[in-house]
Amino acid sequence: MIDQTGSPPPPHKRRVRYSGKYPRRFEEKYKEHDPGRYAETVAKVLVSGKTPAGTHRPIMVAGILEALAPRPGDVAVDCTLGFGGHARELLARIQPGGRLLGLDSDPIELPKAEARLRGLGFGPEVFISLRRNFAGLPQALWEAQIQGADMILADLGVSSMQLDDPGRGFSMKNDGPLDMRMNPGRGQPASALLAGIRAEPLRVLLEENADEPHAATLAPVLAGKQFDGTTALARAVRAALPRLNKEDGDDSIRRVFQALRVAVNDEFSALETFLRQLPACLNPGGRAAVLSFHSGEDRRVKKSFQAGLRAGLYAEASEVLRAEPEERRANPRSTPAKLRWARRSK
Ligand SMILES: C[S@@+](CC[C@H](N)C(=O)[O-])C[C@H]1O[C@@H](n2cnc3c(N)ncnc32)[C@H](O)[C@@H]1O
Repeated sequence: MIDQTGSPPPPHKRRVRYSGKYPRRFEEKYKEHDPGRYAETVAKVLVSGKTPAGTHRPIMVAGILEALAPRPGDVAVDCTLGFGGHARELLARIQPGGRLLGLDSDPIELPKAEARLRGLGFGPEVFISLRRNFAGLPQALWEAQIQGADMILADLGVSSMQLDDPGRGFSMKNDGPLDMRMNPGRGQPASALLAGIRAEPLRVLLEENADEPHAATLAPVLAGKQFDGTTALARAVRAALPRLNKEDGDDSIRRVFQALRVAVNDEFSALETFLRQLPACLNPGGRAAVLSFHSGEDRRVKKSFQAGLRAGLYAEASEVLRAEPEERRANPRSTPAKLRWARRSK
């Protein structure tokens, strides 16, 4: 059938059928993917302490706003735009007159975050986004014609959208290709890394990237192997550690996934480069806040802020701050979060 505009109607899309009362798989949660139409379902998911599919809940928002102290007219950089939750809060506080540059290396989620923020009324004169690794922050600032930032935020690691979508390969629960690249157009997937690595370098990688206590047992079992998908890898980890109870076994699987993700995305070297360049990207008196989720990240942030303090680059650096118990209960993904901030000297 042709409508009055002369175009054929869009093909009818059947919603995904699922067995049982509630959808379990990411792609079956069509109501959570459409919060505009199904606000009630999304509210129920949030109350239950879960993150609705295809979204991300910003963590430690109050602590970050207190640390960064955004004011009208400020120039802000969100180095890890993700869903845009933190950016939205900053944008609202730097108006009128302020600008925010949002970076993210993920070419799949970045256009969605940009569209979301545009939909909230933040036009190109106040918000611009670039698909960039934050290791290239000085170049990104130059491209956006920003001389120096009043505040810079980095919320490290992966977003809930990336973690929950089995197609991205980060999920240990739902099967998907063993990929784990934040930018699927760059580098090698985790499956290729495992297939090409020998036992000793893998042991070191598991220890250094995730403090895995069973690295010596796991490395010879996993190195050089071809895994079909994420759950095949999870099963192999569990089978290699038969004496562990379910909880400890799951912790090892989680750490193996983390170690591979850090390696695949070269996360530590990006973080170190970013931290080295950070003071020079801030205006005098400008503030930086970094939210980290495991010891390998927090160690680097702490060391860099303390060294900057000793060198006189920073006038102040905070102790570690944690999510309040209430936030941890409402959003368990905030439990491991560690926030540190530093203020550039004048
Ligand atoms: C925890 S999420 C950020 C969530 C965001 N603060 C929000 O409120 O929605 C981390 C994001 O950082 C991105 N990311 C991780 N490492 C990056 C890097 N080196 N450069 C740029 N983006 C990176 C990921 O793709 C992901 O979207």
